[in-house]
Parts: sequence; C-alpha cells; structure tokens
Amino acid sequence: MKTFLHGRDMIGDLDFTKEEVETVLEVAFDLKRKRALNEPHPYLRDKVLAMLFFFSSTRTRGSFEAGMAQLGGHGAFIESKSTQISHGDTPKEIGEIFGRYYDGIAVRHVDWGIGNGYLNAVAKASRVPVLNMQCDIYHPFQCLADLMTIMEKKGRDLRRKKMVVSWAYAASYQKPMSVPQSLILQMPRFGLDVVLAHPPEFRLMPDIMEQAKEQARKFGAGFEVTDDMEAAFKDADIVYAKSWGAMVHTPDPDEGAKIIKKYAHWITDERKMAMAKEDAIYMHPLPADRNIEVTDGVMDGEQSVVYDEAENRLHVQKAVMALTMG
Ligand code: CP
Repeated sequence: MKTFLHGRDMIGDLDFTKEEVETVLEVAFDLKRKRALNEPHPYLRDKVLAMLFFFSSTRTRGSFEAGMAQLGGHGAFIESKSTQISHGDTPKEIGEIFGRYYDGIAVRHVDWGIGNGYLNAVAKASRVPVLNMQCDIYHPFQCLADLMTIMEKKGRDLRRKKMVVSWAYAASYQKPMSVPQSLILQMPRFGLDVVLAHPPEFRLMPDIMEQAKEQARKFGAGFEVTDDMEAAFKDADIVYAKSWGAMVHTPDPDEGAKIIKKYAHWITDERKMAMAKEDAIYMHPLPADRNIEVTDGVMDGEQSVVYDEAENRLHVQKAVMALTMG
C-alpha cells in the first residue's frame, strides 16, 4: 500500500502505478463500507474542488459533487460557458487562479485533439491536484470504477479472465474513445486478457495501442484485436461494449457519421450475450443508446452490472480525492 499520494494529478490511466491503483481500490472499498454503515468520513473537511465542465454529464457531476460533500468538503460546479474562458481566460490562468482558490481542479473536456492538452496545461500551472473527469484520450475514473466492479463480481484475482472491449453501434453522435482507451491500458495490469473488437474504421490511437500492448506484456496478460464482434464475445467473462467515433480514421464528423451507419448490426443483444460464458457480466459506462447500441433485455437483464459501475464512480473518486487532496 502506498501511503503518500498527496498532491498528485490523475489525468492518464498510467499516471498511477499498479500498486498506487491498488491503494486507491483498498481505500474505495473501505469508503464504500463506511457509507453502507453510515459512518462519517470527513477526510476533506473545508476543502473545495473546482469541477469545470466543457461537456454535459450526469454521473460524473453527481458523483464528484456528492463525493466531496460526503468527505466534508464542497464540489463547485462550473460550466465553462458561464466563465470568461470564451473571452480569453487561458488554461494557464485557470490553473494558476483556481489553484489559489480551490484544493483540487477537476476538468471534463472531450473535444478531439484539444481536451487532454487543456488538462495538462491547467495541471502545469496549478499548485493543487488536477483530476480528469474525461478528456478526448482517457476516462480514468470510469475505468477505476469498472475495475472495482469487476473485482466485486469476479474476485480480486483476475488472471486468465477474458474481457471483451467492443465497439457498438450508436448514431446519436461520435462519442469519445476515452473509455475503451482507458480500459485497454488499465485492465491488463490486473491480469485480464483483453480482446478489443471494432470495425476497421474505429481504430484507437496508435500510441495508446502500443502502450496497451506494453502493459499486457509487462503483466503477462493477453491482448488481441479483432473486427469480429461475435467471435470476440465467445466464452467472455466480461463484455464491455460501447460506441465511439471514427476520429482516428477521419477527422471529418460527417464522414464519420456515414461510416457508423454501415455497422448497425454491432448491437449487444441476447443472442450475442449467449455466446459469452453463462456467468458473464455486461458492462457499459452510460449513457447508452437503448435498443440501438444494446437491447433493453441485456441492459436491464440479470447479467448487467451497469448500476454498480455507476455507483462505484462515487467510491473510487472519493478515494482518489481523499488521497491526493487531503
Ligand atoms: N459515464 C459517464 O462518464 O457518465 P456521464 O457522462 O453522465 O458523466
């Protein structure tokens, strides 16, 4: 267990070592137990987190805000449109100034090619921890909540368990690729054999793919890529299927939208779930395009753990905030 994470940022999934992630999970399980027992745990009394959003949110906003209150502090919701950012406040100024008001700065900025750079520029100028509430490259807190959920359902020793990270059809908008990228970086460190499935045009970032392969090699886990969704589901222990955009293939959103339409059959339905192991779990970070990306039957079925995933956002975020901002 690591006992000093004070002042650290969490922007990318590999910013914390495996041992540091294990520490986060130990604290998260303890905080979940404390909340279940109604035991007060004000580790951040009088501390304030700035929560700066450039994009909409249900779970991330709710769980960070509730988490800060439960830790005895406050989460200040700041929508970028209501600030002077569009009138010239730079990321450096946000880092410098918010770092003097707040005890932590959390940012969601998912614009392709911009978000991650923005977070890093804020962090460079900030004297307090910067936490990534999702950027164009990573969604680290979602991934930690997913890992906690998998451990609850499948046990702490995840070696030789098969996890499918699959693209799924959804035409509503080109969703960020941060969730699958975080999953392929983090899960092999905990021994999961990851199979990444997507149509050819939905490649992830080459640099992230190289890092994921390196993590799998280092931790002795499998990592395969396929363009066959059904083959990927076969004998899986964990099915994680969600949509993302074709931004690596084409930066043109109209062309990306046209490409998506070719793959309407990439839906997670009862027939495909039956190809996975009988006790397989179905995961999705939400929001989902119901009956387009996944059927109601799967989403609301016995194998679905989507509400546990959403709940665990609260516990892992409280753990990271208590460890880094305390
Ligand atoms: N999963 C997730 O990040 O949800 P929100 O977009 O609602 O925050």
